[in-house]
Amino acid sequence: SEPLRLGIAGLGTVGTGVVKIVRQKANLLAARAGRRIEITAVSARTRDKDRGVSLKDYAWEDDPVKLATRDDVDVFVELMGGSDGPAKAATEAAIAAGKDVVTANKAMLAHHGQALAEAAEAAGRVIRFEAAVAGGIPVIKALTEGLAGNEITRVMGVMNGTCNYILTRMQSADLTYEQAFAEADGLGYLEADPELDVGGIDAGHKLSLLAAIAFGAQVDFDGVELEGIGAVTIDDIHQAADMGYRIKLLGVAQMTGRGLEQRMSPCLVPDNSPLGQLEGGTNMVVIEGDAVGQIVLRGAGAGEGPTASAVMGDVIDIARGLRLATFGTPAGELAALKPAKGAVP
Ligand code: HSE
Repeated sequence: SEPLRLGIAGLGTVGTGVVKIVRQKANLLAARAGRRIEITAVSARTRDKDRGVSLKDYAWEDDPVKLATRDDVDVFVELMGGSDGPAKAATEAAIAAGKDVVTANKAMLAHHGQALAEAAEAAGRVIRFEAAVAGGIPVIKALTEGLAGNEITRVMGVMNGTCNYILTRMQSADLTYEQAFAEADGLGYLEADPELDVGGIDAGHKLSLLAAIAFGAQVDFDGVELEGIGAVTIDDIHQAADMGYRIKLLGVAQMTGRGLEQRMSPCLVPDNSPLGQLEGGTNMVVIEGDAVGQIVLRGAGAGEGPTASAVMGDVIDIARGLRLATFGTPAGELAALKPAKGAVP
């Protein structure tokens, strides 16, 4: 059968990781997917930079829109980031040109996912974004495939590794918020705009995507009640510890009598629970379904290998011919539900 041809836009940590897997695991991927997976073209802001991997076999495009619409590209792999601008323009162009899309861009999807999903459905294309939520943890596949026989009652979790690192260090090393923040900064954990992390915005983006998938609702980032970790003090951490609790930036999405509730805020969790025990830059997602009960998924929420792993899972799904609707709902049901802001349990 014909190879599946990728055009990759964005060659930072994640893009480089994807190129490495495609180059180093070609036979394994072909065996898994039933056809070869090839990269035909790439695009990034800077061309001449040592990324530790050879790009000589691939066509180069300066303009991601050109890359996304090339005749020799079947799947546009968007790893540039940014909610608007080139990532969105190229994704829209790819769909219009009849390409499937794989992206890790939670900000773009949280703000424009609904419109992009509807455009893709209308064009008979798919957008997959496992890498956008909780990095290497296959939580979207868990919800849309393994748990498809359940009514999901609640999804919650720690979805920003940087915040979890800061809160963990405040607790374990008795650091102030400012000291722990400086430590995270020194390790290169913080986003270019740190408010995306500590303001809970990045985690809120992820929660809005999970909520849409779990409850068949519209993506509604504005409907997330958001509170970051900037006001958490070492006294709060001590008081919580005295009562047997830890403070975590916890996201919760659940259906209530008043509609879908989405909350991302610092919460007390029992220190002997799986969430309480979650340390460092890790992510954890807890899913509750009517048939399955509760399951807990834990793993790396960021980084080259874990995020590239999630991207490749989506690429292989597309190579196999699996064509799930963007938010896991059948065509036409996307607009069925709208989350209610301010809903309380
Ligand atoms: N800044 C994010 C985090 C990166 O700390 O989890 C992954 O989305």
